[in-house]
Amino acid sequence: AQLDKYAKLAGLSYFGTAVDNPRLYNPQYMSALQSSDEFGSLTPINAQKWKNIEPVQQVFTWAEADAIANTAKAGVGGKKTLRCHTMVWFKGLPSWVETTYSRADMEHILTAHIQNLAWHFKGRCYAWDVVNEAIDDNGVFRQSPMYKAMGIDFITFSFKTAAKADPSAKLYYNDYALESPFLSPGPKISITLAMLRTVKAQGGTVHGVGFQSHLKVGLVPPRSEMASTMQQFLEVVDEVAITELDIRHSPLKTPSTRAMWEQQARDYGEVVGACLDVNKGYGGRKCVGVTVWDFTDKYSWVPSEIPTEGEACLWDNNYVKKLAYWTVLNMF
Ligand code: XIL
Repeated sequence: AQLDKYAKLAGLSYFGTAVDNPRLYNPQYMSALQSSDEFGSLTPINAQKWKNIEPVQQVFTWAEADAIANTAKAGVGGKKTLRCHTMVWFKGLPSWVETTYSRADMEHILTAHIQNLAWHFKGRCYAWDVVNEAIDDNGVFRQSPMYKAMGIDFITFSFKTAAKADPSAKLYYNDYALESPFLSPGPKISITLAMLRTVKAQGGTVHGVGFQSHLKVGLVPPRSEMASTMQQFLEVVDEVAITELDIRHSPLKTPSTRAMWEQQARDYGEVVGACLDVNKGYGGRKCVGVTVWDFTDKYSWVPSEIPTEGEACLWDNNYVKKLAYWTVLNMF
């Protein structure tokens, strides 16, 4: 069974997974990752974040991010594309960025950072998440060092700089809680749409919007609802993608039951189905791909962030494919 192979036959450009460097030394993980055509795209989970790339100003550490890029190139199941993640985010910052800067200084810092990343990975990234999570759950711009120095101009500035530095990568805005107005009833979605319109009006290039989709079992947006939200974003950008999909049990009851797995499987089907419906609606490839935020419960980020929740992935702790895996495969 091969998720990426069948996703491509169903009109997506890829089915991918996120991967973090410690996993590269686990042979069982690597053989699941590289087997047949399960994954056609990789996203580095942490390796390209600012604090890992430039922990000290002017000191660059590319080894981990390069290791993931090389893994993508050397895939046993064929070459994988890379979704590069992420240039400008309020988290994952080195301490030297986490201070107060003037607008001019921040412009220099952002220019150097974005150029370094874009140039180093030039030709290797299908897409770059240029700006990640700029707006909080209440629709308020996050008080990052970038925002404090430049206001919302940091967003247009980042997209313009990225477009110049790597004109061939698809440039994305990536965030969570954009999937559905039912799940996120506040103004976050409309404020994000307005922000993207402003960036474009100011001459910024934004090709795509990434819907992270860190969701909860029993609480996913209905397929039609998520498809229509994606369509709203497609009035502003050329393409959308599901970029960090996982669906956690919240709370996680142990031992887990068949009923829990069945609900999770249906939920994964709804979300992947939304992406396919968008493409049907347009008669073309507009929701370009689905990426899961790691494929096995063994390495899911959920329990380390929220210990009472988990089992969010398509493969279980022992690399056994869960019901959700087979449901996703059957969607294609
Ligand atoms: C998370 C990683 O999974 C963790 O390992 C790390 O400690 C924090 O970041 N949204 C994003 C991702 O865009 O980069 C985050 O990844 C999860 C939420």
